[in-house]
Amino acid sequence: MTQSFRITLLPGDGIGPEIMAVAVDVMNQVGSQLDLSFDFQEALMGGVAIDETGSPLPDATLATCKQSDAVLLAAIGGYKWDTLPRHQRPETGLLGLRAGLELFANLRPATILPQLIDASSLKREVVEGVDIMVVRELTGGIYFGEPKGIFQSETGEKRGVSTMAYTESEIDRIGRVAFETAQKRQGRLCSVDKANVLEVSQLWRDCITALAADYPDVELSHLYVDNAAMQLVRWPKQFDTIVTGNLFGDILSDAAAMLTGSIGMLPSASLGAAGPGVFEPVHGSAPDIAGQDQANPLAQVLSAAMMLRYGLDQPEAADKIEAAVSTVLDQGYRTGDIMAEGMTAVGCKAMGDAILKALA
Ligand code: IPM
Ligand code: MG
Repeated sequence: MTQSFRITLLPGDGIGPEIMAVAVDVMNQVGSQLDLSFDFQEALMGGVAIDETGSPLPDATLATCKQSDAVLLAAIGGYKWDTLPRHQRPETGLLGLRAGLELFANLRPATILPQLIDASSLKREVVEGVDIMVVRELTGGIYFGEPKGIFQSETGEKRGVSTMAYTESEIDRIGRVAFETAQKRQGRLCSVDKANVLEVSQLWRDCITALAADYPDVELSHLYVDNAAMQLVRWPKQFDTIVTGNLFGDILSDAAAMLTGSIGMLPSASLGAAGPGVFEPVHGSAPDIAGQDQANPLAQVLSAAMMLRYGLDQPEAADKIEAAVSTVLDQGYRTGDIMAEGMTAVGCKAMGDAILKALA
């Protein structure tokens, strides 16, 4: 019997629509092979939503997302909207989506594909075999803490305030996701904080340490965030799973992504306690190459695979897509961002066609 899923598509801005089109074709093909059917609903988010409705996350979009089984997002933002007031910026829409769907757990894998080792700016022996999962808290910390704002102080000077705050329960729930993720991987979890300076980090460390008793099979360690940044580029193979707060996770996940040499390859998943997850590439909307058929669609395709695995519980479909991506890389197809000598340069559409062929 055919299993069917309701998927909200948020193609967004820049290269978003091009890479989303590839992912949809790939999903439809895998679906027809495995008797899965996808009911795709497209909705507006980001700059395109601002242009059409005035809001980066229209209520109708959030409602459509809530009614679906999973949300596939491409990328949002662009120069055109960079100077709008904060509440109208594309990024505010993304934060609203995370908050609206209570997506507190963000999983960002940084895996080196053997075919692309030379794309890394680090030495082969440093990055070969790197396989890291960053578990980033996504709906708390300094991104959402109160008070926040730019206030007039008594001296007449402006004062900008953001607040880094975590409650025990917020730390607990992300901690559990991280320990469970580590259990499914190599069983090593490194918690990153700034407990030598920040009270909020001291509580973070206390709570994560207390949780360890429930996961005796996981080996827990702690690092301060500055040291963690250094260790990531010094010897990344020491890491298996990393858990950290919203801001530190934002920064460290970009650093971890770049170990792989191409941010154009990395998917991510944002999950809540219940309800649909959001799956999206780590990279942005690349407005400089939008509409030129130059974008690398692989992170978007791998995000669809992550959606099938973590959001829809269809590991077989996810395996097939990941294998097809590996095949096209073996065949030497490369978009501009990962091009190397002796390889075949292709555009976004041709890369999509190669994946469909590999799946057939
Ligand atoms: C990310 C991005 C976002 C963040 C921005 C676009 C709001 O950098 O997903 O990492 O800071 O979380
Ligand atoms: Mg970021």
